[in-house]
Amino acid sequence: MDLTNRPRRLRGNDSIRRLCRETRLSTDSLIYPIFVDETLRGRRAIDALPGQFHYGLDSVLQAVEECLAAGVCRGILFGLPAYKDPEGSSAWIENGVVQRAIQAIKAAYPDFYIITDVCLCEYTDHGHCGILRGREVDNDETLKALARTALSHVEAGADMVAPSDMMDGRVGAIRRALDGCGHETTPILAYSAKYASAFYGPFRAAANSAPAFGDRRGYQMDPHNRREARKECALDVAEGADLLMVKPALPYLDVLRDCSQAFDLPMCAYQVSGEYAMIKAAGAQGMVDEHQVMCEAAVSIFRAGADMLITYFAKELAQAIRKGEIG
Ligand code: PBG
Repeated sequence: MDLTNRPRRLRGNDSIRRLCRETRLSTDSLIYPIFVDETLRGRRAIDALPGQFHYGLDSVLQAVEECLAAGVCRGILFGLPAYKDPEGSSAWIENGVVQRAIQAIKAAYPDFYIITDVCLCEYTDHGHCGILRGREVDNDETLKALARTALSHVEAGADMVAPSDMMDGRVGAIRRALDGCGHETTPILAYSAKYASAFYGPFRAAANSAPAFGDRRGYQMDPHNRREARKECALDVAEGADLLMVKPALPYLDVLRDCSQAFDLPMCAYQVSGEYAMIKAAGAQGMVDEHQVMCEAAVSIFRAGADMLITYFAKELAQAIRKGEIG
């Protein structure tokens, strides 16, 4: 028997290709980012992110309904407050923009799973992710503010909190604050391996959160480092993280692979704004097939080891999964 020239039996037709796929995608693995703007009525297109919108508190249910119609049952909320100050105090007030959005969503759609991004950069007037002492972020002062913010989200009804600030000790500080108020079962999704990335550019325009001076390299990771990601994940695990994240996704698939193999916690990937914008821009110019590139990028992120994906393409991907184009 000559096995060298055997026919490629497992590639024969669509049915067997689908049977033998190594990577499976599910609409359950998709999380859609929702931007809520306290100063807005209705919804407004985000220039920096073609196809994405800011939603006012009066239209945030529309965002949820669009998700549900597409088969996406989970979202991560980002808030744009009406008022900013050096401490970012709008982040934790009871009637803050995210807190009100959560209440509105939960009242209408209690089963829609709400994750909140916990960070101060959208709420501080200087745009840094923490409270400053001089021109540096004061790590420990910031921890208190982050813990208060996370707690206020959970008290408003959030199902999960996701600290994205990268301060040292934030997962532990948030865990203690939640446990101290009876929220032991609320999970923490830690943005563990979050790189100081130029791929966040469109998000900062969308969230109005670019730092007024300096950059975030003091608290976000250096793209040159792979092993350091494992160290960051290990610290978050030790502090009580329930899920880990690697961000961005496509340029960091090696990190995703590494961390998903090294840790037994569920692994989330964040396909960030710049990754989305590049695919949209190249697609709009006719340089690539936007739909196919979107599908292939998502499949690759799951193949590398992600268990779930935060992506601005969540609704389109859910449709592609439902149609059997991927998954
Ligand atoms: C808040 C935060 C950022 C993103 C998610 N949470 C911006 C940043 O760190 O500068 C980026 C998301 C994206 O680019 O889509 N700190």
